[in-house]
Amino acid sequence: LTERSDMPDHIRITLDDRVLHITLNRPEKKNAITNDMYEALAEALERAEADPAIRAVLLDAEGDAFTAGNDLGDFAAVAAGKLAREHMGSTRFLSALARAQKPYVAAVQGLAVGIGTTMLMHFDLVYIAEDAKLTTPFVNLALVPEAASSWLLPARIGHARAFAMFALGEAIDGRTAAAIGIANEALPKDQVYAKALAGAKALATRPLGALQATKRLMRDAEAIQAHMTKEGEIFAARLKTTEAAEALRAFAERRPPDFSKIES
Ligand code: COA
Repeated sequence: LTERSDMPDHIRITLDDRVLHITLNRPEKKNAITNDMYEALAEALERAEADPAIRAVLLDAEGDAFTAGNDLGDFAAVAAGKLAREHMGSTRFLSALARAQKPYVAAVQGLAVGIGTTMLMHFDLVYIAEDAKLTTPFVNLALVPEAASSWLLPARIGHARAFAMFALGEAIDGRTAAAIGIANEALPKDQVYAKALAGAKALATRPLGALQATKRLMRDAEAIQAHMTKEGEIFAARLKTTEAAEALRAFAERRPPDFSKIES
């Protein structure tokens, strides 16, 4: 696999011992994921599915945060009509997650905001730092959940907890994530990557046909894709609302949003 020459740094990709390592590498922006980064991620996942030499995918992140979620500058560009929805790389990335058949392993530390948490619904093994912080503050941004998380998160952790995460922006820490079934194990931060790597390497030794058949039986890719499409339409429409304009402006101006005068 070769790295993309236009953005070699923000997504790092290496293939080692039948494990495709994908690293979010934009630590100065808390690994906020831009359109270009989504495209690179999608390409890497598509290659992983197509290449018989790849037996497992391992995702980790440089720096103190896993990811601050979607780059809010890109959301603002869509909201302002400067970036067409069809060109949002997240759609292709989400679609790759929905259709995934190879096993995915994640190593999570620090903040995992928005898609940083929702993408974990599509990972097969998740190792997380005890003090990691998962948040999905979609409603605070006047948006709706994505990555089929409006279905998969409540299914995993229950409606009440998922609603508090979506609507109040309530965070859960790594220990809780492991206790309620979002992660396999919470570990001290400096042990997370090694544990995830060992998991990915172990999966790479398993019979691929059986692994893939098991993953296919455990999740309904078609239903997941259909739910993502439904969410995507509402999400895109919401980006154009006055509510979202206020939320995105507030982030750019580093102040809390004021929704009190906006009627739905
Ligand atoms: N999109 C674009 N840039 C982002 C970003 C995002 N989602 N999250 C953080 N950044 C940038 C900040 O603008 C800042 O850039 P600057 O140094 O050029 O000013 C840099 O990353 C560091 O972030 P900062 O806010 O200074 O760090 P912090 O530790 O005080 O706070 C967060 C970290 C993640 C809590 C905060 O940045 C945040 O709330 N980000 C938005 C998260 C979000 O709503 N994501 C979308 C979910 S759907």
